[in-house]
Amino acid sequence: MSRDALEVIRTRRVVRAMTDEPVPRDLLERVLDAAAHAPSAGNRRFQRFVAVDDGATLRVLRMVSPGMLQRPAAVVVICVDAALAVEYGFRAGSSGLYIDVGTAAQTMLLAAHALGLGSGPVTSFSKAAVSAVLNLPPGWSPELIVCLGRPAATQPPPMALGRRRTWRDLTHWGRLTTTDGA
Ligand SMILES: Cc1cc2nc3c(=O)[nH]c(=O)nc-3n(C[C@H](O)[C@H](O)[C@H](O)COP(=O)(O)O)c2cc1C
Repeated sequence: MSRDALEVIRTRRVVRAMTDEPVPRDLLERVLDAAAHAPSAGNRRFQRFVAVDDGATLRVLRMVSPGMLQRPAAVVVICVDAALAVEYGFRAGSSGLYIDVGTAAQTMLLAAHALGLGSGPVTSFSKAAVSAVLNLPPGWSPELIVCLGRPAATQPPPMALGRRRTWRDLTHWGRLTTTDGA
């Protein structure tokens, strides 16, 4: 399926109800490949993706992730290899490492949508429990889980109901004056 990129960006919404249809590996691979093309601070790419599509591990991940409202057919856990980043001279906690988690996550969400999959990011989870379940090496920190699956026909209402802010609401042209933003 090929869709106009802006249309994909505009129509993507978090999917919190998914069918139990499995997601074929080749679609997961395309989502992962898209994320490998996301921008990365210094092009260092200290993100590591752990893809999971087996039911038993998914069930345990759900148990330690209160923010995972969907029952995904697959997830990608985006981790930061913080130990390697520090070895390369990045400051521990450097913002670029976490901005890269966001660029990878958004790229996955958009790729999934373009491929006809539903997706949703989750950050409400126990990092210690996810690290233990996935047997992550020391120094890897799980930062965000991208849930993937076929969207169910009916979706729960969006989290905060109300008017979606437009770009005009969010944008200021040029230099701000002292009363702007008050
Ligand atoms: C950093 C981040 C963390 C999020 N964590 C969760 C989460 O734990 N559970 C969840 O259901 N949605 C989570 N979301 C999704 C947001 O709730 C969602 O993007 C927002 O309500 C707007 O909906 P939309 O993306 O469909 O426009 C998260 C989004 C971001 C960017």
